[in-house]
Amino acid sequence: MTYAPETRRRRTFAIISHPDAGKTTLTEKLLLFSGAIQIAGAVKGRKASRHATSDWMEIEKQRGISVASSVMQMSYRDHVINLLDTPGHKDFSEDTYRVLTAVDSALMVIDAANGVEAQTRRLIEVCRQRDTPIITFVNKMDREVRDPLDILDEVERELGMPCCPITWPVGQGKSFGGIINLRTQSMTVFSPGSEKRPQDFETIPLSEADKLRTRFGQAFDDALESMELAVGASAEWNHEAFLAGKLTPVFFGSGVNNFGVMEVLDAVVDMSPPPGPRKSTLLVNKQPVEKIIQPEDSGFSGVVFKVQANMDANHRDRIAFVRVASGKFTHGMKMKVQRTAKELRPTSVVTFMSQRREAVEEAYAGDIIGFTIHGGVQLGDTITDGPNLQFTGLPFFAPELFMTVVLRNPLRTKQLQQGLMQLGEEGAIQVFKPEAGGNMLLGAVGQLQFEVVQHRLNTEYDCDIRLEGCQYTGARWITADTPAELREFENAYPLRMARDAADTLAYLCTSPYDVRLAQERFPKIHFHPLREHA
Ligand code: G4P
Repeated sequence: MTYAPETRRRRTFAIISHPDAGKTTLTEKLLLFSGAIQIAGAVKGRKASRHATSDWMEIEKQRGISVASSVMQMSYRDHVINLLDTPGHKDFSEDTYRVLTAVDSALMVIDAANGVEAQTRRLIEVCRQRDTPIITFVNKMDREVRDPLDILDEVERELGMPCCPITWPVGQGKSFGGIINLRTQSMTVFSPGSEKRPQDFETIPLSEADKLRTRFGQAFDDALESMELAVGASAEWNHEAFLAGKLTPVFFGSGVNNFGVMEVLDAVVDMSPPPGPRKSTLLVNKQPVEKIIQPEDSGFSGVVFKVQANMDANHRDRIAFVRVASGKFTHGMKMKVQRTAKELRPTSVVTFMSQRREAVEEAYAGDIIGFTIHGGVQLGDTITDGPNLQFTGLPFFAPELFMTVVLRNPLRTKQLQQGLMQLGEEGAIQVFKPEAGGNMLLGAVGQLQFEVVQHRLNTEYDCDIRLEGCQYTGARWITADTPAELREFENAYPLRMARDAADTLAYLCTSPYDVRLAQERFPKIHFHPLREHA
């Protein structure tokens, strides 16, 4: 049985940008145009309360930033599109990184006035490491923005890959006339308004140049001239190069005005890749052997790239987000968590249709499904319907910020431990338990993670905690070739040893020299700044 026809029509992509570039707006417009939501009501609601379809957690509403990533599925032109939102704030970059391991392509949104901004740069790096194909959308052309040639130049430099403009703007700000589609050689005329549908925009072929000139004056001629320059200076469209993450198609538009959005949705279908093969490790006679899993393979397999607790105040549950890597998921099928070899018995399995969760009957490679669970599943876990394999590549970064947790009411110790264990398993924060005993340590990549955890411990676990600074500035995961070497190392640094939520041994350091000194003293010990789930 081949699932190829199903996997071929899937597109799974993440939307990335610097905060405020217009990611949320564009997400909602994509949902709107695919028919996944009926009205852009979420956008209106957002204006009042600063929260959007994709914002689930209370804290997000308070801060107006996307803390948690979310998932949305829609169908468009007989394709199933899975869109993964990424947290915009840099303090949650770890979470974003993991989301990016679950997609096959990315859509980068840029504010045309600001160009490529700090947070986008970090996300691009991650995509580049994985050779993820990137589609670029230059947003807010209805504002006074930068010269499009300038933006193209910057994108090329920042991305380190050639751009290929697919649409080109005529004017900008008050004189924004529309976009020229280089492929169809026609101009789509801009008119403002968030209620517009793609078919409401007028399209005029470039062959009617006189008409366009009369209507848009100098802006039209300037656009033709700069477009020619851009085309001359940029790469020709090459689908293979795009799929290899070596060329990005560029689109212009205005998300809030629904303009240029349809072109992007079509590009996702026409250009972005369907699910591809994934690397895994298979145990053969207890020896790890690398195996490539093809999306259309008959066995079901998936990887947990995100765990989120208490998404819905009415259900105190946790959802493990699983990216299906191969085979077919069917309702009621038997599955195993490979790490523990235990059967997975979710209370429900859902798919994410914009803001609704819906019971899922079947899912294929590329789809994201959520298992409602009460523990027993961690980030990076592989779930299959039989084969004993483990996907690799879900990263955890060594934290750079540490805090000690002090509980105000010692009677809540048990709840605190449970809360920290669950938040650690979710990857909201890294939790280290010192081997020598004493208070738990929290490790983060960004400061805001501490605030989120403090808030969540309070609201979800009724634990009032104080966070105190501590001397640690870093951690390295430790491995050794023999148990004796490891023991010797542990004995040398008993106060520096700690275990994380996955029970992996780590060495805590107070300065970068620490690691160097320890490494010189114990040349056979391996110090890892990154832990991959394996
Ligand atoms: P984000 O998720 O990337 O953080 O961005 P978001 O969509 O929230 O958009 C940030 C701001 O930019 C919002 O305005 C939004 O309305 C505006 N915006 C998005 N697309 C466009 C566009 O094409 N043109 C213009 N002119 N503005 C756009 P805000 O005032 O911060 O919030 P709101 O009160 O409008 O919701």
